[in-house]
Amino acid sequence: MKYIKTAKYDKQFLLDNMMGPNAMKILEEMAAGLTLKSGMRVLDPGCGKGLTAIFLAKEYGVQVFAHDLWVGATENYRRFKSLNLDSLIIPIHSDANDTPYADEYFDAVISVDAYEYFGETESYMDEKPAPPVKKGGIFAIAVPGVKKELQGKPPVEMACSWTAEDLETFHSCVWWRELLSKSQKIEIESVSEMQGFDEFRNDWLLCDNEYAVSDRSAMEAGAGKYMNFVQIIAKKK
Ligand SMILES: C[S@@+](CC[C@H](N)C(=O)[O-])C[C@H]1O[C@@H](n2cnc3c(N)ncnc32)[C@H](O)[C@@H]1O
Repeated sequence: MKYIKTAKYDKQFLLDNMMGPNAMKILEEMAAGLTLKSGMRVLDPGCGKGLTAIFLAKEYGVQVFAHDLWVGATENYRRFKSLNLDSLIIPIHSDANDTPYADEYFDAVISVDAYEYFGETESYMDEKPAPPVKKGGIFAIAVPGVKKELQGKPPVEMACSWTAEDLETFHSCVWWRELLSKSQKIEIESVSEMQGFDEFRNDWLLCDNEYAVSDRSAMEAGAGKYMNFVQIIAKKK
């Protein structure tokens, strides 16, 4: 697909604020299948430097609660303010295990390249993000993954850049469907590979973030053939 909405943003701004494969393009692809309307309230856990929150606020006029652990609220607030988006995006420095919200408060939880850090246990969905989402509310989650579950020793191409521990978070569509189908509070609509994986990753490799630099050796060795981006769409029961 053509990422027409992302193309409107300054390329250098995106490169300066990427923390992984191009989060705006990932969100643009995922959001194309969602109904997002001005006035909706969205939780964005693991928002990093806020590229997804910015895109949601600017493109859809939704209010975003932008949570992150590694990036402070003041840094994100300054970025949102510089874009005149501070009335729509609330920057919060917190762990995604803290969801101090009213039940049924949000219309959606949208998370790109973060859920794999905190959401890979059976209990997480029902205990943390699901209660504050309205009945019928949306879950749209994108995570870096693998085409097939890695068994035993990781492929040498992947081991160039990632330790076995790093690779523990990478899973297949089948694995994610199985994990989230244990939830009593959500109904899965689809779990699928995203079309734009190569483009998301190639954009990331262009930036000088130290993790992008260290990811280059795996990609040059051909690790991309094992990898994908997994998109999960679900509804609150
Ligand atoms: C690879 S970065 C991606 C950031 C952003 N979503 C993006 O795609 O640009 C992963 C993010 O997950 C966040 N994260 C990891 N563990 C977290 C936790 N327990 N609670 C909240 N955020 C967390 C980190 O702070 C980091 O910003």
